[in-house]
This record gives sequence, C-alpha cells and structure tokens, in this order.
Amino acid sequence: MEKDKAPSHATYTRAQLALRNGQDKPEVWIAYKGTIYNVSSSRLWKSGKHYEHWAGQDLTDELEDAPHTDTVFGKFEIIGKLVP
Ligand code: HEM
Repeated sequence: MEKDKAPSHATYTRAQLALRNGQDKPEVWIAYKGTIYNVSSSRLWKSGKHYEHWAGQDLTDELEDAPHTDTVFGKFEIIGKLVP
C-alpha cells in the first residue's frame, strides 16, 4: 500500500458483516485477522456455508480447523477492515 494515500478500505462493524452471510444479502463476506474478504464468487462458499462454517463473521480462530492455510484468501477481493 502506498503510504502517501489515505486508506482506501472502508471499515465495517460486526453487525454489518453479519448481514453478508449469504442468506440475508447475496454477498458472502468473511473476516480473517481484521480484514474482510469477498468470497461471493466461490462455489465453496455458496449461500454462505463452507463445510461447518458460516460467512458473515470473524473466522480467524476457526482456520485452525481447516485442512488448508490462509493462502486460500489470496485470490479474493478485500472489502475492508473489521472494526477492532
Ligand atoms: C472444517 C473446516 C474446513 C474444511 C474441511 C475446509 C475445506 C476446504 C477445501 C477442501 C478447500 C478447497 C481446496 C483448498 O484450497 O485447500 C477450501 C477452500 C477455502 N477455504 Fe476452507 N475449509 C475449512 C475451514 C475454513 C475456514 C474456517 C475458513 C475461513 C477462515 C476457510 C476459508 C476457505 C477459503 C476462502 C477457501 C477458498 C475458496 C475458493 O477458492 O473458492 N475454510 N476449504
């Protein structure tokens, strides 16, 4: 990120994130380590469900249950930051 520019990402609350669970709205967003990713295009997150996990929330602590690392986020658009 260029330091001389204002942050380009918006910040969202947990309540705003919760609406993007693939059920209440069509968007499927997930938060990981403070960053919100748009996984709407993923067939593996269809309707907001990924194995036993639901979108629309901070899934940082749940990644340890996954058979993969956080490299899976690499190809997805960053929506913004989750309010700390
Ligand atoms: C029981 C737990 C889980 C299982 C069995 C599981 C399984 C998988 C599998 C098989 C894939 C596709 C192959 C790969 O990239 O390795 C995948 C992709 C992915 N997983 Fe998980 N996962 C789990 C939990 C999680 C959690 C907790 C997160 C978020 C923190 C997550 C985020 C993702 C993402 C973003 C992708 C990429 C989807 C795509 O490329 O379309 N997974 N997962």
